[in-house]
Amino acid sequence: MNSDNQSIAYPRHISIVMDGNGRWARQRGLPRNAGHRAGVRAARKVVEACGERDIEILTLFAFSSENWSRPETEVTLLMRLFVESLQREVQDLHKNKVRLRFLGDRTSLPIALIRQMESSERLTASNEGLKLNVAVSYGGRWDLVEAARLLATRVAKGELQPEQIDEALFSAELSLAGVADPDLFIRTGGEKRVSNFLLWNLAYSEFLFSDALWPDFDSVLLDQAIDDFTQRRRRFGRTTEQLSAG
Ligand code: FPP
Repeated sequence: MNSDNQSIAYPRHISIVMDGNGRWARQRGLPRNAGHRAGVRAARKVVEACGERDIEILTLFAFSSENWSRPETEVTLLMRLFVESLQREVQDLHKNKVRLRFLGDRTSLPIALIRQMESSERLTASNEGLKLNVAVSYGGRWDLVEAARLLATRVAKGELQPEQIDEALFSAELSLAGVADPDLFIRTGGEKRVSNFLLWNLAYSEFLFSDALWPDFDSVLLDQAIDDFTQRRRRFGRTTEQLSAG
């Protein structure tokens, strides 16, 4: 909940759907996995750029609940790529004071990835630089259902009355509990949809769709997106006149 965000001219929290790796590879006559590797390089640069620009929180959508239905070979290669990339990058992220967290349903992930995620979260837990959230096996609907299940369990145990459930209690059970909502949502790759990303948290985000394929997204395009955001007027349901009156 961050209804006080209307006065923030600069985004505190950016969330990104990194789309277009496959097309980037196809345009170069390369296998899809080469696109995903280039996608990891782009993610690394954007993480650095966000750190340099004092962005507080960056949430990246790396693998959705729906991505499990891709061909098995692609899923296997992606999982391997996540493990390798994390192993390679975690010390550097730590040195740069990045706090890493993963969102999503870990139950179906390979054990090597779960271990790597857990150790990276532990290592970087007290860092006070950029808060980097990476959504893996994540779906906005999954997140909402999990929250509902957790609340229902508390009701069943008698810890909570149904009438006590409000937006604050509900959002406290979501993956991004306690984290300011994304101010800016960016999707690369030309498609204009949310694809089951942070359904609750994006309620008042500003949306920016870029035709750039994710591996081509860089600090210049990030700056353009931030500039675009700073030109917008966020109303959070109020009228323009109310905002002008302060
Ligand atoms: C989207 O392109 C990419 C994915 C679903 C795969 C995962 C993302 C990366 C490897 C980028 C960075 C990762 C990390 C760990 C932060 P697509 O395959 O949907 O492309 P297409 O729409 O052109 O086929």
